[in-house]
Amino acid sequence: MKITAEFITSATGAADFPGGGLPEVALVGRSNVGKSSLINALLRQRIARTSAAPGKTRLANVYRVARGSSAPFYLVDLPGYGFARGGSTEFESLTREYFGRERWERHSGDPVLPSGVLLVDVRHPGLTNDVQAWAWLQAVTEHSALVATKIDKLARGQRIRALRELESVFEDSVTAVSAVTGEGLDELWKLIDRLASNRNNLNPRTRTIPRKETAPRPPKK
Ligand code: GTP
Ligand code: MG
Repeated sequence: MKITAEFITSATGAADFPGGGLPEVALVGRSNVGKSSLINALLRQRIARTSAAPGKTRLANVYRVARGSSAPFYLVDLPGYGFARGGSTEFESLTREYFGRERWERHSGDPVLPSGVLLVDVRHPGLTNDVQAWAWLQAVTEHSALVATKIDKLARGQRIRALRELESVFEDSVTAVSAVTGEGLDELWKLIDRLASNRNNLNPRTRTIPRKETAPRPPKK
């Protein structure tokens, strides 16, 4: 299937985020969990910068993606959390603004509600900040999903055990992927297609958007 991807912007704050019109799917997760690598694997090109050291992505990088006959959407690579030297601050402020209700309120005619995909490392199920991030993401998005990264690092038997543990901790289904071997990418594309198209079924007036004061805070570390 043909995939076209175009870098749109590196957003430093709310004013830089795309101004509505297209659905958005954003990848959220700890620094080094493999967000940028997964974007490259999905798009089959080295469009996002990756690094063995955590804290590589510092801004919200927005890509416009079209796959096959599906409608185009924005895929968003956010800074990670859990990185002591500055990453957490960027994650918190930028991510909060990105998913914030103030943002779509500005676009009253055609509100944008981004979907969130939380990435967790399959080798570390149930880290406190991941569990917090999941609670937060579910509160601030209408549609969210869980993905386990780096499954190539585990042998078959270990994978099954780790995924079972993840599903029990997060109380949701988990899509397991590897950016290195490409395993799970077809399933992830199906998931992303679903998230990107859900928006069309939503009626803005009947949505329940969590209020800022009741939504949990994104994890600090
Ligand atoms: P930040 O930008 O710091 O938030 O990190 P990130 O989540 O974007 O991680 P990134 O994609 O830069 O990857 C971090 C490291 O993990 C790099 O060394 C990657 O090569 C490695 N990595 C990413 N995905 C995989 C994977 O599926 N398998 C393996 N074995 N390594 C991976
Ligand atoms: Mg990154």
